[in-house]
Amino acid sequence: MKRFMKWLGILLGGILGIALIGLLGYYIYWLTQARRTIEVDVTAIEIPTDQASIERGKILVEIVRCTECHGKDLSGVLWTDHMLTGAFGPTNLTPGENGISGYTDEDYIRAIRHGVGRDGKALIYMPSNFYSDLNQSDLGDIIAYMKTLPPSSQPGPPNGRTGPYLWNFVLKNPQGLPAIKMIDHKAIAAIPVGPDPNDILAYGEYLALPCKSCHGDDFAGRPLLERLRVPSPNITPYNLDTWTEEVFFTAMREGILPDGTFIPQSLMPWEAIGQLTDDELHAIWVYLQSLPAVANEDAISYQNSDG
Ligand code: HEC
Ligand code: HEC
Repeated sequence: MKRFMKWLGILLGGILGIALIGLLGYYIYWLTQARRTIEVDVTAIEIPTDQASIERGKILVEIVRCTECHGKDLSGVLWTDHMLTGAFGPTNLTPGENGISGYTDEDYIRAIRHGVGRDGKALIYMPSNFYSDLNQSDLGDIIAYMKTLPPSSQPGPPNGRTGPYLWNFVLKNPQGLPAIKMIDHKAIAAIPVGPDPNDILAYGEYLALPCKSCHGDDFAGRPLLERLRVPSPNITPYNLDTWTEEVFFTAMREGILPDGTFIPQSLMPWEAIGQLTDDELHAIWVYLQSLPAVANEDAISYQNSDG
């Protein structure tokens, strides 16, 4: 009996030991992946300097939600600072010494489209997989605006300095390291020119890309905006079948829904979306109306919920 217990102990201990070594190996492998230098061929584009482009860049950083993470003035937000998580958050993107001083056009493009930092390492939780679709003109305007930001006097969170607890999430989650787990750097090497504005459907499809991050890939809504505990509604004809283009414009420009309720800025950046031109909003409307009326059982439509 004693012998049996001894052997059982050795066996269980052995299995546990192997499991631990496996787990450790897994983390060491991914940590090495995460800290390796990623070579990307950055395509250069002309960055505009005229006022109109800069102003459009300011609108775009809200529509594509850079400000939601990096802060209204893009001066960075400290998400967490703890022994176990490390000090981490979206970087201070202002050009001063507290931000990204000395950033070249290439550095901007590498970070935004490829999710790779100036040091060649994968940026953590920076959703560049959404931004590789930005066309040359929009990408140029965003960078043009970023270059004119007044330097912030507040130092931002240190770059990629995560502690063991946060690494645990980063390594497990594809969004933790988009540059390694989600982006095919060769496939996105060329920066798209974008569709011809006269091709209304294609143009609308392009302009509606940023809406997907909340309304879902098929625009049929998402159950909840987790952060805010509010459903983001279905915006296919399934839900908008009674809408007219005029109602749509009022919602996008004034934040007012057909039943008279007001959309808070914190739920949807309609103030920025509303600054798109009439032609652009028209193209988005035409595109949304062309979508199949998808019912999404999981998504609680705004109309059917108590909010
Ligand atoms: C979901 C949140 C989120 C959104 C949205 C987001 N970022 Fe980031 N971004 C981050 C985080 C977090 C980091 C820091 C990554 C790190 O330290 O490894 C970062 C890093 C960066 C960097 C690299 C800075 C450096 O240290 O070299 C740039 C540039 C940047 N973001 C620009 C943008 C722009 C432009 C947009 C909008 C087009 C944007 N980000 C949208 C979270 C976000
Ligand atoms: C940050 C997340 C977010 C983004 C980005 C976003 N929306 Fe929304 N949208 C919402 C939420 C949440 C609501 C519900 C608002 C409420 O309940 O007051 C909403 C409501 C709407 C409605 C009203 C639907 C209804 O049933 O009342 C329309 C139409 C709409 N969005 C279109 C768009 C379009 C077009 C875009 C892109 C140009 C867009 N949204 C981008 C989150 C977002």
